[in-house]
Amino acid sequence: MRTLLRLWPYVRPVRARLLTAAFVAVVASCTGLVIPLVLKWMVDGPVADRDPAGVWLGALCLLLLGVAEAVLFGIRRWLVARPLSHVEAEMRADLYRRLQRLPVAFHDRWASGQLLSRGTTDLMLLRMFLAFPLTFLLVNGVTILVGLVVMLLQDWVLGLVILGPAIPVMWTCVVFERRYAQVARRAQDQVGDLTTVVEESVLGIRVIKGFGRHRSQARAFRELSGRLRGTELRKARLLATIWGVIVTLPEVAIGAALVLGAVRVADGDLSAGTLVAFLSTALALRWPVDSIGFLLAMSQEAATATERYFEVMDEAPEDRGGDRAARPRLPETRGLRFEDVSFRYPDAPPGSPPLLTHIDLHIRPGESMALVGATGSGKTTLTALVPRLHEVTSGRITLDGVDITAMSREELRTKVAVAFEEPTLFSASVGENVLMGAPDGAGKPELDRALAIAQADFAHALPQGTDTRVGEQGLSLSGGQRQRLALARAVVGRPEFLVLDDPLSALDVHTEAAVEAALRRVLADTTALIVAHRPSTVLLADRVALLSGGRIAAVGTHQELLRHNAEYAHLMSGEQEDTR
Ligand SMILES: Nc1ncnc2c1ncn2[C@@H]1O[C@H](COP(=O)(O)OP(=O)(O)OP(=O)(O)O)[C@@H](O)[C@H]1O
Ligand SMILES: [Mg+2]
Repeated sequence: MRTLLRLWPYVRPVRARLLTAAFVAVVASCTGLVIPLVLKWMVDGPVADRDPAGVWLGALCLLLLGVAEAVLFGIRRWLVARPLSHVEAEMRADLYRRLQRLPVAFHDRWASGQLLSRGTTDLMLLRMFLAFPLTFLLVNGVTILVGLVVMLLQDWVLGLVILGPAIPVMWTCVVFERRYAQVARRAQDQVGDLTTVVEESVLGIRVIKGFGRHRSQARAFRELSGRLRGTELRKARLLATIWGVIVTLPEVAIGAALVLGAVRVADGDLSAGTLVAFLSTALALRWPVDSIGFLLAMSQEAATATERYFEVMDEAPEDRGGDRAARPRLPETRGLRFEDVSFRYPDAPPGSPPLLTHIDLHIRPGESMALVGATGSGKTTLTALVPRLHEVTSGRITLDGVDITAMSREELRTKVAVAFEEPTLFSASVGENVLMGAPDGAGKPELDRALAIAQADFAHALPQGTDTRVGEQGLSLSGGQRQRLALARAVVGRPEFLVLDDPLSALDVHTEAAVEAALRRVLADTTALIVAHRPSTVLLADRVALLSGGRIAAVGTHQELLRHNAEYAHLMSGEQEDTR
């Protein structure tokens, strides 16, 4: 209950409609309860008196009541359909917005399939809950109460017989709820795991095929889905048990009432009409009682879905940045500066040493600094600290003397542009992909300039030029082509600070040289940090910093380091052999 109450903010805007719909449903349901009273009048009146006209009149009344009930239920549906799809859409949009604003550390921690299933299956369960169980638990409750009162008024002895099973049925419901909650949670989590497997194998289809792993992959999938099936079967079994209890006990009570009633009619204690009315009321209550089982089940699933939904929504998003108090400007430190920066991943094993310790590095305005280090030494991590994809554990990073935590993220991210190791393109046109890196309103001239710098003129030769769609839903590009588009995206906004993570790794020597020549022109007035593995990329930079053992081990020009630093010489010479 408490979990479901959290849905209130979303339901609030449509509460009037939902309440009206519930009211209409209660009226419709109670209309159904008038039918037995008409039957009673018919049996005791026209039927006993053999009056055909009276029977026809009664039949007409029954028909009208039936039609009214149907129309009212139809109106209820019409009332709830539109607002509820609105609620679902709102919740989905909120979830998406939150996912965009959650820190990278959150996404590192969560499997994407779990997020995906929350945005799809769980929200669908919630909409179904709002449409159906929410209303009908109320409607059926009222109907059952009204029906019981009607029956007790008809004949209180028979009424008590019918009421007999109430306590065992309620007890079953309570026990059932508790068990079902656990199984429902497990099932929904397993759907998330299954989604993750499907997603990974679709993305990794080349690896799976290339290594002939489709069989073992299918086996792994079958195992997971078998586990989910087991959980679903457990759910079905629980549901069957409760259904059995809820259906059988009242049915037995109705049978007992029928026998007792028939005896009393024979004795002349009870009119035949009353017995007919009593039994048809009891029968009319069968559906409201029977359905309680699966209404409770659906509510339980909805509660679980709500819980899973809010697990994501309750995560703290990135702060907006811009702590004015920390904004004193130190004019002597222009450029990009790391001051005693240490960092460890929040999800690193406890007790492990920080990945980066006491990093001090100053990149002067207009200077470009290459960052060199063995693979896994933390270069990518260090570059990710500048646009605040991860937060420093201690120390600080300043841009022109201003602490990056003192700027709003928006300001920071217009100042700093990044190209990542893995060049990601979205399902959009080449132009849109590149212009993501520019302020709104940038157009063709900026696009052409960026493509020229990144030597990505191939884009003009694509089937629809720069309007060609790329990404998942579009044309597949080669690794080097994607890398050059990512580079174009980084330079298109003429950023003051540029962070490039091994931007030229996938290019052939000639293209690399051409990109370098163009980049040099851009880098002349940009402060840049460039992760590099190859000497040719290092030569782009004015100075080189060597990252080793989580520290900046040496800073100097390529030639100086080559001469005086054995580790650097080793790193570079190995690479040189590779490229030649
Ligand atoms: N999200 C993360 N959570 C925990 N540890 C991580 C995470 N990402 C990376 N690491 C660890 O941090 C270390 C440094 O990774 P990083 O990607 O910064 O290396 P790198 O220097 O860029 O390597 P390469 O040259 O291969 O690109 C690795 O040992 C890696 O296991
Ligand atoms: Mg890296």
